[in-house]
Amino acid sequence: MTEDVLVVHGGTPLEGRIRVRGAKNLVSKAMVAALLGDTPSRLYDVPKIRDVEVVRGLLGLHGVKVTDGDEDGELVFDPANVESASTDQINVHAGSSRIPILFCGPLLHRLGHAFIPDLGGCHIGPRPIDFHLQALREFGATVEKRPEGLHLSAPNGLHGTKFALPYPSVGATEQVLLTAVMADGVTELRNAAVEPEIIDLICILQKMGAIIKVHTDRVIEIQGVPKLHGYTHRPIPDRIEAASWAAAALATRGHVEVLGAQQADMMTFLNIFRSVGGEYEVTDTRPPKLGDPGQEGGIRFWHPGGELNAVALETDVHPGFMTDWQQPLVVALTQARGLSIVHETVYEQRLGYTEALNKMGANIQVYRDCLGGTPCRFGRRNFKHSAVIAGPSKLHAADLVIPDLRAGFSHLIAALAAEGTSRVYGVDLINRGYEDFEAKLADLGAHVERP
Ligand code: EPU
Repeated sequence: MTEDVLVVHGGTPLEGRIRVRGAKNLVSKAMVAALLGDTPSRLYDVPKIRDVEVVRGLLGLHGVKVTDGDEDGELVFDPANVESASTDQINVHAGSSRIPILFCGPLLHRLGHAFIPDLGGCHIGPRPIDFHLQALREFGATVEKRPEGLHLSAPNGLHGTKFALPYPSVGATEQVLLTAVMADGVTELRNAAVEPEIIDLICILQKMGAIIKVHTDRVIEIQGVPKLHGYTHRPIPDRIEAASWAAAALATRGHVEVLGAQQADMMTFLNIFRSVGGEYEVTDTRPPKLGDPGQEGGIRFWHPGGELNAVALETDVHPGFMTDWQQPLVVALTQARGLSIVHETVYEQRLGYTEALNKMGANIQVYRDCLGGTPCRFGRRNFKHSAVIAGPSKLHAADLVIPDLRAGFSHLIAALAAEGTSRVYGVDLINRGYEDFEAKLADLGAHVERP
Protein backbone atom coordinates (compact mmCIF):
# COMPACT_ATOMS: atom_id res chain seq x y z
CA MET A 1 0.00 0.00 0.00
CA THR A 2 1.31 3.46 -0.84
CA GLU A 3 1.69 5.83 2.06
CA ASP A 4 -1.04 8.44 2.24
CA VAL A 5 1.31 11.29 1.43
CA LEU A 6 2.08 13.31 -1.65
CA VAL A 7 5.44 14.96 -2.18
CA VAL A 8 4.91 18.28 -3.94
CA HIS A 9 7.76 20.17 -5.58
CA GLY A 10 6.22 23.63 -5.75
CA GLY A 11 6.91 26.77 -7.71
CA THR A 12 5.80 25.61 -11.17
CA PRO A 13 2.72 27.24 -12.75
CA LEU A 14 -0.09 24.78 -13.50
CA GLU A 15 -0.70 24.76 -17.24
CA GLY A 16 -3.01 22.68 -19.37
CA ARG A 17 -6.52 21.38 -19.67
CA ILE A 18 -8.60 19.14 -17.42
CA ARG A 19 -12.27 18.14 -17.38
CA VAL A 20 -14.84 18.13 -14.59
CA ARG A 21 -17.72 15.67 -14.51
CA GLY A 22 -21.06 15.62 -12.68
CA ALA A 23 -21.20 17.62 -9.45
CA LYS A 24 -20.40 15.52 -6.37
CA ASN A 25 -23.12 17.33 -4.44
CA LEU A 26 -25.76 16.44 -7.03
CA VAL A 27 -24.66 13.00 -8.18
CA SER A 28 -24.85 11.44 -4.71
CA LYS A 29 -28.40 12.78 -4.24
CA ALA A 30 -29.46 11.69 -7.72
CA MET A 31 -28.36 8.19 -6.76
CA VAL A 32 -30.59 8.29 -3.67
CA ALA A 33 -33.51 9.54 -5.79
CA ALA A 34 -33.26 6.36 -7.90
CA LEU A 35 -34.67 4.51 -4.85
CA LEU A 36 -37.99 6.29 -5.38
CA GLY A 37 -38.63 4.98 -8.90
CA ASP A 38 -40.42 1.81 -9.80
CA THR A 39 -38.30 1.39 -12.97
CA PRO A 40 -34.51 1.72 -13.54
CA SER A 41 -32.71 5.06 -13.61
CA ARG A 42 -29.65 6.00 -15.63
CA LEU A 43 -27.13 8.65 -14.58
CA TYR A 44 -24.28 9.88 -16.78
CA ASP A 45 -20.98 11.60 -16.05
CA VAL A 46 -20.67 10.14 -12.57
CA PRO A 47 -17.19 10.89 -11.22
CA LYS A 48 -15.12 8.13 -9.65
CA ILE A 49 -14.97 9.55 -6.13
CA ARG A 50 -15.35 8.03 -2.68
CA ASP A 51 -18.76 9.58 -1.93
CA VAL A 52 -20.18 7.81 -4.99
CA GLU A 53 -18.76 4.50 -3.77
CA VAL A 54 -20.37 4.97 -0.35
CA VAL A 55 -23.81 5.65 -1.82
CA ARG A 56 -23.41 2.80 -4.30
CA GLY A 57 -22.63 0.48 -1.39
CA LEU A 58 -25.65 1.67 0.60
CA LEU A 59 -27.98 1.30 -2.38
CA GLY A 60 -26.65 -2.22 -2.94
CA LEU A 61 -27.36 -3.13 0.68
CA HIS A 62 -30.95 -2.01 0.17
CA GLY A 63 -31.46 -4.25 -2.84
CA VAL A 64 -30.88 -1.66 -5.58
CA LYS A 65 -28.84 -3.28 -8.35
CA VAL A 66 -26.21 -0.77 -9.49
CA THR A 67 -24.36 -1.55 -12.72
CA ASP A 68 -21.96 0.33 -14.97
CA GLY A 69 -23.52 1.46 -18.26
CA ASP A 70 -21.85 1.49 -21.69
CA GLU A 71 -20.53 5.03 -21.45
CA ASP A 72 -17.64 5.85 -19.11
CA GLY A 73 -19.22 7.33 -15.98
CA GLU A 74 -22.69 5.92 -16.67
CA LEU A 75 -24.47 4.12 -13.82
CA VAL A 76 -27.76 2.23 -13.99
CA PHE A 77 -29.89 1.69 -10.89
CA ASP A 78 -32.53 -1.02 -10.73
CA PRO A 79 -34.77 -0.55 -7.69
CA ALA A 80 -37.14 -3.48 -8.44
CA ASN A 81 -36.23 -5.34 -5.24
CA VAL A 82 -35.76 -2.73 -2.52
CA GLU A 83 -35.31 -4.48 0.82
CA SER A 84 -34.21 -3.84 4.39
CA ALA A 85 -30.54 -4.12 5.25
CA SER A 86 -29.19 -5.11 8.65
CA THR A 87 -27.94 -2.34 10.93
CA ASP A 88 -24.56 -4.09 11.07
CA GLN A 89 -24.21 -4.02 7.29
CA ILE A 90 -25.29 -0.38 7.13
CA ASN A 91 -22.96 0.57 9.96
CA VAL A 92 -19.97 -0.42 7.85
CA HIS A 93 -20.60 2.95 6.15
CA ALA A 94 -20.89 4.90 9.42
CA GLY A 95 -18.80 8.03 9.50
CA SER A 96 -17.99 7.93 5.80
CA SER A 97 -20.36 10.53 4.35
CA ARG A 98 -23.31 12.86 5.05
CA ILE A 99 -25.46 11.31 2.34
CA PRO A 100 -27.04 8.43 4.36
CA ILE A 101 -29.35 10.93 6.11
CA LEU A 102 -31.03 11.49 2.73
CA PHE A 103 -32.10 7.84 2.54
CA CYS A 104 -34.78 8.54 5.21
CA GLY A 105 -37.70 9.66 3.01
CA PRO A 106 -37.14 7.19 0.13
CA LEU A 107 -36.72 4.22 2.53
CA LEU A 108 -39.79 5.24 4.53
CA HIS A 109 -41.79 5.35 1.29
CA ARG A 110 -40.45 2.04 0.00
CA LEU A 111 -40.21 0.03 3.23
CA GLY A 112 -42.06 1.92 5.96
CA HIS A 113 -38.92 2.09 8.09
CA ALA A 114 -35.29 3.21 7.85
CA PHE A 115 -32.04 2.89 9.76
CA ILE A 116 -29.45 5.65 9.37
CA PRO A 117 -25.88 5.16 10.65
CA ASP A 118 -23.71 7.77 12.32
CA LEU A 119 -22.87 10.38 9.69
CA GLY A 120 -19.48 11.45 8.44
CA GLY A 121 -18.43 14.17 6.07
CA CYS A 122 -15.94 16.94 6.62
CA HIS A 123 -15.08 18.22 10.08
CA ILE A 124 -15.96 21.84 9.50
CA GLY A 125 -18.12 22.48 12.55
CA PRO A 126 -20.74 20.49 14.45
CA ARG A 127 -22.92 19.87 11.33
CA PRO A 128 -26.16 19.03 13.17
CA ILE A 129 -29.13 17.27 11.53
CA ASP A 130 -31.88 18.90 13.62
CA PHE A 131 -33.57 20.48 10.54
CA HIS A 132 -33.69 17.07 8.84
CA LEU A 133 -35.28 15.36 11.83
CA GLN A 134 -37.73 18.19 12.42
CA ALA A 135 -38.81 18.00 8.76
CA LEU A 136 -39.26 14.21 8.88
CA ARG A 137 -41.39 14.51 12.01
CA GLU A 138 -43.52 17.16 10.26
CA PHE A 139 -44.23 14.56 7.56
CA GLY A 140 -45.39 12.13 10.26
CA ALA A 141 -42.27 10.01 10.73
CA THR A 142 -41.23 8.84 14.17
CA VAL A 143 -37.52 9.14 14.88
CA GLU A 144 -35.79 7.18 17.59
CA LYS A 145 -32.16 7.97 18.41
CA ARG A 146 -30.24 4.90 19.59
CA PRO A 147 -26.50 4.52 20.23
CA GLU A 148 -25.98 2.69 16.92
CA GLY A 149 -27.86 5.26 14.82
CA LEU A 150 -31.34 6.53 13.96
CA HIS A 151 -34.37 4.28 13.62
CA LEU A 152 -37.27 5.80 11.70
CA SER A 153 -40.72 4.55 10.91
CA ALA A 154 -43.91 5.94 9.41
CA PRO A 155 -46.74 3.78 10.77
CA ASN A 156 -49.39 6.09 9.29
CA GLY A 157 -47.60 7.00 6.08
CA LEU A 158 -46.03 10.35 5.23
CA HIS A 159 -48.22 13.43 4.73
CA GLY A 160 -47.58 16.79 3.09
CA THR A 161 -46.85 19.65 5.46
CA LYS A 162 -46.12 23.39 5.66
CA PHE A 163 -42.68 23.98 7.01
CA ALA A 164 -40.06 26.76 7.17
CA LEU A 165 -36.36 26.00 7.55
CA PRO A 166 -34.59 28.11 10.19
CA TYR A 167 -31.73 28.47 7.64
CA PRO A 168 -31.69 27.58 3.92
CA SER A 169 -29.83 24.28 4.44
CA VAL A 170 -28.95 22.39 1.27
CA GLY A 171 -29.28 18.95 2.84
CA ALA A 172 -32.52 19.69 4.68
CA THR A 173 -34.07 21.09 1.49
CA GLU A 174 -33.10 17.88 -0.30
CA GLN A 175 -34.52 15.86 2.57
CA VAL A 176 -37.85 17.62 2.19
CA LEU A 177 -37.86 17.18 -1.61
CA LEU A 178 -37.03 13.46 -1.46
CA THR A 179 -39.75 12.93 1.15
CA ALA A 180 -42.48 15.25 -0.13
CA VAL A 181 -42.54 13.96 -3.72
CA MET A 182 -44.36 10.79 -2.66
CA ALA A 183 -46.04 12.05 0.53
CA ASP A 184 -49.78 12.27 0.59
CA GLY A 185 -50.92 15.86 -0.23
CA VAL A 186 -49.13 19.16 -0.74
CA THR A 187 -45.93 20.33 0.98
CA GLU A 188 -44.86 23.95 1.17
CA LEU A 189 -41.25 24.54 2.12
CA ARG A 190 -40.27 28.12 2.99
CA ASN A 191 -36.70 29.43 3.33
CA ALA A 192 -35.50 26.59 1.08
CA ALA A 193 -32.01 26.43 -0.40
CA VAL A 194 -31.98 26.96 -4.19
CA GLU A 195 -28.42 25.95 -5.13
CA PRO A 196 -28.02 24.80 -8.78
CA GLU A 197 -27.50 21.25 -7.46
CA ILE A 198 -30.95 21.45 -5.82
CA ILE A 199 -32.57 22.74 -8.99
CA ASP A 200 -30.92 19.85 -10.86
CA LEU A 201 -32.30 17.39 -8.28
CA ILE A 202 -35.73 18.95 -8.84
CA CYS A 203 -35.25 18.38 -12.59
CA ILE A 204 -34.51 14.71 -11.91
CA LEU A 205 -37.56 14.32 -9.66
CA GLN A 206 -39.71 16.06 -12.27
CA LYS A 207 -38.42 13.61 -14.90
CA MET A 208 -39.54 10.83 -12.53
CA GLY A 209 -43.09 12.17 -12.43
CA ALA A 210 -43.00 14.60 -9.48
CA ILE A 211 -44.85 17.93 -9.39
CA ILE A 212 -42.62 20.62 -7.89
CA LYS A 213 -43.01 24.39 -8.18
CA VAL A 214 -40.14 26.72 -7.29
CA HIS A 215 -41.69 30.05 -6.31
CA THR A 216 -39.85 33.31 -5.68
CA ASP A 217 -38.51 34.05 -2.20
CA ARG A 218 -37.18 30.54 -1.54
CA VAL A 219 -40.59 28.86 -1.44
CA ILE A 220 -40.89 25.37 -2.94
CA GLU A 221 -44.26 23.68 -3.31
CA ILE A 222 -44.46 19.93 -3.87
CA GLN A 223 -47.61 18.07 -4.77
CA GLY A 224 -47.19 14.45 -3.68
CA VAL A 225 -47.81 11.70 -6.25
CA PRO A 226 -48.40 8.00 -5.47
CA LYS A 227 -45.81 6.65 -7.90
CA LEU A 228 -42.54 7.72 -9.56
CA HIS A 229 -40.61 6.03 -12.34
CA GLY A 230 -36.91 5.95 -13.23
CA TYR A 231 -35.01 8.85 -14.82
CA THR A 232 -32.25 9.38 -17.37
CA HIS A 233 -30.07 12.34 -16.50
CA ARG A 234 -26.77 14.06 -17.25
CA PRO A 235 -25.92 16.11 -14.15
CA ILE A 236 -24.64 19.66 -13.91
CA PRO A 237 -20.83 19.79 -13.81
CA ASP A 238 -18.96 20.21 -10.54
CA ARG A 239 -18.68 23.96 -9.98
CA ILE A 240 -16.69 23.46 -6.76
CA GLU A 241 -14.04 21.41 -8.51
CA ALA A 242 -13.96 23.90 -11.41
CA ALA A 243 -13.38 26.80 -9.02
CA SER A 244 -10.72 24.83 -7.16
CA TRP A 245 -8.66 24.42 -10.35
CA ALA A 246 -9.26 28.08 -11.21
CA ALA A 247 -7.87 29.11 -7.82
CA ALA A 248 -4.91 26.76 -8.37
CA ALA A 249 -4.19 28.44 -11.72
CA LEU A 250 -4.24 31.88 -10.07
CA ALA A 251 -2.15 30.92 -7.02
CA THR A 252 0.55 29.26 -9.15
CA ARG A 253 0.53 32.04 -11.80
CA GLY A 254 -0.63 29.42 -14.30
CA HIS A 255 -3.22 28.87 -17.01
CA VAL A 256 -5.84 26.11 -16.70
CA GLU A 257 -8.76 25.32 -19.00
CA VAL A 258 -11.56 23.51 -17.16
CA LEU A 259 -13.66 21.66 -19.71
CA GLY A 260 -17.25 21.25 -18.59
CA ALA A 261 -17.20 24.31 -16.29
CA GLN A 262 -20.41 26.30 -16.68
CA GLN A 263 -20.54 30.06 -16.46
CA ALA A 264 -24.15 30.29 -15.25
CA ASP A 265 -23.46 28.26 -12.10
CA MET A 266 -20.23 30.11 -11.34
CA MET A 267 -21.15 33.76 -11.91
CA THR A 268 -20.44 34.87 -8.37
CA PHE A 269 -17.08 33.10 -8.38
CA LEU A 270 -16.17 34.62 -11.75
CA ASN A 271 -16.92 38.14 -10.49
CA ILE A 272 -14.59 37.68 -7.52
CA PHE A 273 -11.96 35.97 -9.69
CA ARG A 274 -11.94 39.01 -11.98
CA SER A 275 -11.88 41.48 -9.05
CA VAL A 276 -8.82 39.70 -7.64
CA GLY A 277 -7.12 40.23 -11.00
CA GLY A 278 -7.50 36.78 -12.55
CA GLU A 279 -8.52 36.50 -16.18
CA TYR A 280 -10.94 33.99 -17.67
CA GLU A 281 -12.57 33.21 -20.96
CA VAL A 282 -15.73 31.20 -21.41
CA THR A 283 -15.52 28.80 -24.34
CA ASP A 284 -18.87 27.57 -25.57
CA THR A 285 -19.49 24.03 -26.73
CA ARG A 286 -19.49 23.58 -30.51
CA PRO A 287 -21.63 20.59 -31.44
CA PRO A 288 -20.15 18.12 -33.95
CA LYS A 289 -21.07 18.61 -37.65
CA LEU A 290 -20.05 16.84 -40.82
CA GLY A 291 -16.26 17.19 -41.11
CA ASP A 292 -16.00 18.94 -37.72
CA PRO A 293 -15.69 16.86 -34.55
CA GLY A 294 -16.96 19.81 -32.51
CA GLN A 295 -15.46 21.01 -29.26
CA GLU A 296 -16.44 20.75 -25.63
CA GLY A 297 -16.80 24.10 -23.89
CA GLY A 298 -15.55 25.22 -20.53
CA ILE A 299 -13.73 28.12 -18.90
CA ARG A 300 -10.05 29.06 -19.26
CA PHE A 301 -8.58 30.67 -16.13
CA TRP A 302 -5.21 32.36 -15.94
CA HIS A 303 -2.96 34.74 -14.06
CA PRO A 304 -2.25 37.65 -16.41
CA GLY A 305 1.05 38.62 -14.70
CA GLY A 306 1.64 41.52 -12.36
CA GLU A 307 0.03 41.86 -8.95
CA LEU A 308 -3.30 40.57 -7.69
CA ASN A 309 -5.79 42.76 -5.83
CA ALA A 310 -7.10 42.30 -2.30
CA VAL A 311 -10.89 41.79 -2.04
CA ALA A 312 -13.59 41.56 0.61
CA LEU A 313 -15.98 38.65 0.29
CA GLU A 314 -18.61 36.89 2.26
CA THR A 315 -19.66 33.28 1.78
CA ASP A 316 -23.39 32.70 1.54
CA VAL A 317 -26.12 30.42 0.26
CA HIS A 318 -26.85 30.57 -3.48
CA PRO A 319 -26.61 32.92 -5.34
CA GLY A 320 -23.89 34.08 -2.95
CA PHE A 321 -20.23 33.07 -2.94
CA MET A 322 -20.13 29.34 -2.05
CA THR A 323 -18.45 28.34 1.19
CA ASP A 324 -16.67 25.56 -0.72
CA TRP A 325 -14.98 28.10 -3.00
CA GLN A 326 -13.53 29.93 -0.04
CA GLN A 327 -10.57 27.75 0.98
CA PRO A 328 -8.99 27.34 -2.49
CA LEU A 329 -9.39 31.04 -3.27
CA VAL A 330 -7.81 32.16 0.01
CA VAL A 331 -4.53 30.61 -1.13
CA ALA A 332 -4.58 32.92 -4.16
CA LEU A 333 -5.49 35.84 -1.87
CA THR A 334 -2.22 35.34 0.03
CA GLN A 335 -0.61 36.57 -3.20
CA ALA A 336 -2.75 39.73 -3.50
CA ARG A 337 -1.45 43.16 -2.46
CA GLY A 338 -3.24 44.61 0.56
CA LEU A 339 -5.77 43.31 3.06
CA SER A 340 -8.40 40.83 1.91
CA ILE A 341 -11.36 40.04 4.13
CA VAL A 342 -13.28 36.77 4.13
CA HIS A 343 -16.45 36.47 6.21
CA GLU A 344 -17.59 32.82 6.43
CA THR A 345 -21.34 32.80 7.12
CA VAL A 346 -22.30 29.19 6.25
CA TYR A 347 -20.08 27.15 8.61
CA GLU A 348 -18.88 28.37 11.98
CA GLN A 349 -15.49 26.61 11.89
CA ARG A 350 -14.21 26.64 8.35
CA LEU A 351 -11.10 28.76 8.76
CA GLY A 352 -8.92 26.38 10.79
CA TYR A 353 -6.93 25.49 7.69
CA THR A 354 -5.44 29.01 7.60
CA GLU A 355 -3.00 27.93 10.35
CA ALA A 356 -1.26 25.67 7.84
CA LEU A 357 -1.03 28.55 5.34
CA ASN A 358 0.52 30.74 8.06
CA LYS A 359 3.06 28.00 8.71
CA MET A 360 4.01 28.36 5.04
CA GLY A 361 4.55 32.10 5.32
CA ALA A 362 1.05 33.51 4.80
CA ASN A 363 -0.19 36.31 7.05
CA ILE A 364 -3.78 35.46 7.98
CA GLN A 365 -5.56 36.49 11.17
CA VAL A 366 -8.92 35.04 12.15
CA TYR A 367 -11.54 36.95 14.14
CA ARG A 368 -14.76 36.27 16.02
CA ASP A 369 -16.39 39.42 14.60
CA CYS A 370 -18.45 39.58 11.41
CA LEU A 371 -15.92 41.52 9.35
CA GLY A 372 -16.57 43.40 6.16
CA GLY A 373 -20.23 42.59 5.70
CA THR A 374 -23.58 42.06 7.29
CA PRO A 375 -23.75 40.51 10.78
CA CYS A 376 -24.36 36.74 10.56
CA ARG A 377 -25.66 34.13 13.03
CA PHE A 378 -22.11 33.22 14.16
CA GLY A 379 -21.05 36.68 15.37
CA ARG A 380 -23.26 36.44 18.44
CA ARG A 381 -22.01 32.91 19.13
CA ASN A 382 -18.34 33.77 19.43
CA PHE A 383 -16.95 31.66 16.57
CA LYS A 384 -13.77 32.58 14.73
CA HIS A 385 -15.38 32.94 11.31
CA SER A 386 -13.77 36.00 9.70
CA ALA A 387 -10.28 36.18 8.23
CA VAL A 388 -8.02 39.04 7.24
CA ILE A 389 -5.34 38.05 4.72
CA ALA A 390 -2.40 40.43 4.35
CA GLY A 391 -0.41 39.99 1.18
CA PRO A 392 1.48 39.35 -0.86
CA SER A 393 3.41 36.68 1.07
CA LYS A 394 6.07 34.42 -0.28
CA LEU A 395 4.95 30.87 0.51
CA HIS A 396 7.56 28.31 1.44
CA ALA A 397 7.33 24.52 1.58
CA ALA A 398 6.10 22.71 4.69
CA ASP A 399 4.82 19.37 5.93
CA LEU A 400 1.03 19.56 5.95
CA VAL A 401 -1.77 17.33 7.24
CA ILE A 402 -5.07 17.53 5.39
CA PRO A 403 -7.99 18.24 7.75
CA ASP A 404 -10.97 18.03 5.36
CA LEU A 405 -11.83 17.91 1.68
CA ARG A 406 -11.84 21.55 0.58
CA ALA A 407 -9.16 22.65 3.05
CA GLY A 408 -7.18 19.68 1.75
CA PHE A 409 -7.31 20.97 -1.79
CA SER A 410 -6.23 24.41 -0.55
CA HIS A 411 -3.22 22.81 1.20
CA LEU A 412 -2.36 21.18 -2.07
CA ILE A 413 -2.61 24.48 -3.97
CA ALA A 414 -0.44 26.17 -1.35
CA ALA A 415 2.19 23.44 -1.70
CA LEU A 416 2.10 23.84 -5.50
CA ALA A 417 2.48 27.62 -5.21
CA ALA A 418 5.26 27.48 -2.60
CA GLU A 419 8.98 27.37 -3.29
CA GLY A 420 10.51 24.05 -2.30
CA THR A 421 9.31 20.54 -1.54
CA SER A 422 6.29 19.96 0.72
CA ARG A 423 4.91 16.70 2.05
CA VAL A 424 1.12 16.65 2.14
CA TYR A 425 -0.25 13.93 4.45
CA GLY A 426 -3.79 12.53 4.28
CA VAL A 427 -4.17 13.28 0.55
CA ASP A 428 -6.51 10.31 0.06
CA LEU A 429 -9.22 12.48 1.63
CA ILE A 430 -9.12 14.54 -1.58
CA ASN A 431 -10.41 11.49 -3.46
CA ARG A 432 -13.72 11.99 -1.64
CA GLY A 433 -14.56 14.83 -3.97
CA TYR A 434 -11.94 15.28 -6.71
CA GLU A 435 -11.84 12.59 -9.37
CA ASP A 436 -8.35 11.48 -10.45
CA PHE A 437 -6.77 14.57 -8.95
CA GLU A 438 -3.28 13.13 -9.20
CA ALA A 439 -3.69 12.38 -12.91
CA LYS A 440 -5.05 15.89 -13.43
CA LEU A 441 -2.09 17.38 -11.57
CA ALA A 442 0.20 15.44 -13.90
CA ASP A 443 -1.73 16.73 -16.94
CA LEU A 444 -1.18 20.26 -15.65
CA GLY A 445 2.56 19.76 -15.34
CA ALA A 446 2.72 19.67 -11.53
CA HIS A 447 5.79 18.04 -10.03
CA VAL A 448 4.25 15.65 -7.51
CA GLU A 449 5.10 12.10 -6.53
CA ARG A 450 4.19 9.36 -4.11
CA PRO A 451 7.24 8.53 -1.99
N1 EPU B 1 -27.49 23.05 9.57
C1 EPU B 1 -28.10 22.93 10.80
N2 EPU B 1 -28.98 21.89 10.98
C2 EPU B 1 -29.27 21.00 10.01
C3 EPU B 1 -28.64 21.13 8.74
C4 EPU B 1 -27.75 22.17 8.57
O1 EPU B 1 -27.87 23.73 11.71
O2 EPU B 1 -30.08 20.08 10.25
C5 EPU B 1 -26.50 24.14 9.35
C6 EPU B 1 -25.08 23.58 9.16
O3 EPU B 1 -24.47 23.30 10.40
C7 EPU B 1 -24.41 24.68 8.38
C8 EPU B 1 -25.55 25.25 7.53
O4 EPU B 1 -26.77 24.81 8.13
O5 EPU B 1 -23.95 25.68 9.26
C9 EPU B 1 -25.54 24.83 6.10
O6 EPU B 1 -25.50 23.42 5.99
P1 EPU B 1 -26.18 22.63 4.78
O7 EPU B 1 -27.23 21.73 5.34
O8 EPU B 1 -26.56 23.62 3.73
O9 EPU B 1 -24.97 21.76 4.26
P2 EPU B 1 -24.99 20.24 3.84
O10 EPU B 1 -26.20 19.90 3.07
O11 EPU B 1 -24.59 19.38 4.99
C10 EPU B 1 -23.93 20.64 1.48
C11 EPU B 1 -22.69 20.18 0.79
C12 EPU B 1 -21.49 20.88 1.39
C13 EPU B 1 -21.67 22.38 1.23
C14 EPU B 1 -23.00 22.83 1.87
C15 EPU B 1 -23.29 24.29 1.65
C16 EPU B 1 -23.24 17.93 0.19
C17 EPU B 1 -23.00 16.48 0.38
N3 EPU B 1 -22.55 18.75 0.96
O12 EPU B 1 -23.76 20.24 2.83
O13 EPU B 1 -20.36 20.47 0.64
O14 EPU B 1 -20.61 23.04 1.84
O15 EPU B 1 -24.08 22.04 1.33
O16 EPU B 1 -23.36 24.58 0.29
O17 EPU B 1 -24.03 18.34 -0.67
C18 EPU B 1 -18.22 19.71 0.29
O18 EPU B 1 -18.59 19.37 -0.84
O19 EPU B 1 -17.00 19.68 0.66
C19 EPU B 1 -19.19 20.16 1.26
C20 EPU B 1 -18.93 20.28 2.57
